[in-house]
Amino acid sequence: MSDDDTVLEARLPEGETFDPPEAFIEEANVTDPEIYEEFEENWPACWETAAELVDWDREYDQVLDASDPPFYEWFTDGKLNASANCLDRHLEDRGDEPAIEWVGEPTDEADRTYTYEQLHREVNEFAAALRDLGVGEDDVVTVYMPMIPELPIAMLACARIGAPHSVVFAGFSAQALSTRMNAADSSYLVTCDGYYRRGDPLDHLEKANEGLDGVDYDVDATVVVDRLGPNGDGFGHDLADGQHDYATLIADHEGATVAPVSRDAEDMLFLMYTSGTTGQPKGVKHTTGGYLSWVTWTSQAVLDVKPEDTYFCAADIGWITGHSYIVYGPLSLGTTTMMYEGTPDYPDNDRLWEIIEEYEATQLYTAPTAIRAFMKWGEEYPDRHDLSSLRLLGTVGEPINPRAWKWYYTNIGDEACPIVDTWWQTETGGMMVTTLPGICEMKPGAAGPPLPGVDAQVVDAAGEEVEAGRAGYLTIQKPWPGMLRTLYRNDERFIREYWAEYSDLDSDDMDDWVYSPEDGAKIDEDGYITVLGRVDDVLNVSGHRLGTMELESAIVGVEGVAEAAVVGGDHELKGEAVYAYVITEDGYEGDETLRQRIVDGVESAIGPIARPEQVIFTPDLPKTRSGKIMRRLLENIANGEELGNTSTLQNPGVVEDIQEKVRDA
Ligand code: WT7
Repeated sequence: MSDDDTVLEARLPEGETFDPPEAFIEEANVTDPEIYEEFEENWPACWETAAELVDWDREYDQVLDASDPPFYEWFTDGKLNASANCLDRHLEDRGDEPAIEWVGEPTDEADRTYTYEQLHREVNEFAAALRDLGVGEDDVVTVYMPMIPELPIAMLACARIGAPHSVVFAGFSAQALSTRMNAADSSYLVTCDGYYRRGDPLDHLEKANEGLDGVDYDVDATVVVDRLGPNGDGFGHDLADGQHDYATLIADHEGATVAPVSRDAEDMLFLMYTSGTTGQPKGVKHTTGGYLSWVTWTSQAVLDVKPEDTYFCAADIGWITGHSYIVYGPLSLGTTTMMYEGTPDYPDNDRLWEIIEEYEATQLYTAPTAIRAFMKWGEEYPDRHDLSSLRLLGTVGEPINPRAWKWYYTNIGDEACPIVDTWWQTETGGMMVTTLPGICEMKPGAAGPPLPGVDAQVVDAAGEEVEAGRAGYLTIQKPWPGMLRTLYRNDERFIREYWAEYSDLDSDDMDDWVYSPEDGAKIDEDGYITVLGRVDDVLNVSGHRLGTMELESAIVGVEGVAEAAVVGGDHELKGEAVYAYVITEDGYEGDETLRQRIVDGVESAIGPIARPEQVIFTPDLPKTRSGKIMRRLLENIANGEELGNTSTLQNPGVVEDIQEKVRDA
């Protein structure tokens, strides 16, 4: 067993199983277990099942064109528009039904409901405004907004005119915004003045403006939504030249309609930047036909979404979860999707339960990190509310420990809701490994079997399937419609990062190409996959992906820092937390002042989500004889684990010193 395997094995959960509740099965969207076999036999034609859920302007010719792997094309020559699928096609039957129920953070502020009719109207008006500002088909529009209705409106308006959006999470820093705009050559920005966080207004426009200063070219136009209100908590910003007030644009385009642009199935719908092993974020490119089919089908099959539901995903639209499962999937199915602006602990720890009770939400989809926090706060908070409207619970973003799973099952689901533990990634577009809630038994801690038609396998370093129960690496052996098509303007990095490990790069045969998500996993006798965590230099902090290189370059950018190594340490709530080992420059003290400057440096380079939990100053870092930093050892130290043999180190003496510092911290 290699070193890697030992670490992976140590994270394995206990075994116990649960059957899906009878009452749920009776009403479930998908209940026929034959689906697994049928999809396997009919692959790739099985994906017509997904494509049929979408309205096409022109039918596609071929389900899959695999002539040039890994540049797969799905539903070739089909034409469609994502905004028409999410809005126009529901107007006749569901025009007066709520599309979005929005709850702001301040409890004294009125909630906002957008019916399909109203959402359609505002998306059209904003699409017309964007066009007038000069946005053309295929121009990338950056959207830097928190959880306010104008965020999905902007996304759908872009989709309507065929302009790919690139949404940047509002919690990201100014610098992160400039990096992403520059990388995408994006000349348009939609943002807002501010938003609320735990009762306080935050100045978002200041950050956006600072980000704009870091863009290498002149941006053509910026649109600013006034979220805080002119007399309320606004920060009194004047709009600069080229900056437009959103409400004025909407008023100027009152009643305007824009015919949805018929996009090729393979035309880009959006870009989403995500962290990788280098400092430069990766621009994951998703296209229109495959992505929309994938998120629509998985919303229906896995989240069991029905039009009459009030579906609540508590993620942020700034991440892929929100793109796929707050906006595109649910709206494509014509259901009611909830949006909540704030955090679950404001004004009190029962805020989510209060919202679920008030709106009679039918599904809740959230992250294990949130569930662990709920568990810590105690069941008295959910107990205050009637949660009996819930039919299904979901989790995503990181492995869920069986204890948190059971707490969720009992205290939120009242043992009457199936839980879907969904493994997927920004790159996969939508869910890949999860139980089907009306069919499969549930095993807490294991995500489940791959979805029907998804060929996921756990392999060893040589690419051979491992035995049941042994740790290995998760791979996807066949393409799927929701997959990323490339990294924006970087086909070479796309191949290197996702395909090079297990594929025959010279082959034109699809069977020789294997997708590598960089996760450790094991599979059991029933084909259930337990995901063990990342195997590359990427941390998963509260379900957010952070590259160690990004963090390290932010830290060495701080005056007084000579060298830094970042690893993930286990954290009760966050799953993983950022541990930074820092060597100071001559003449600098590793003191509280420098620690604070390092924390600030990381926050301004990335954002508060990346804030180091621990900064450990050390005169040296453990290195191999060839000079490589021993990250595994630093991880073991962070977690207070046994270290094993350190005698092969260049500088074994440093280890004890660091251990002591971590213990004392
Ligand atoms: C990474 C992808 C998927 C949307 C949110 C995160 C981890 C995701 C699970 C799960 C164990 C999971 C993996 C994956 N992950 N879901 N159910 N069980 N791990 O998207 O930022 O692209 O991160 O999140 O490590 O590779 P992302």
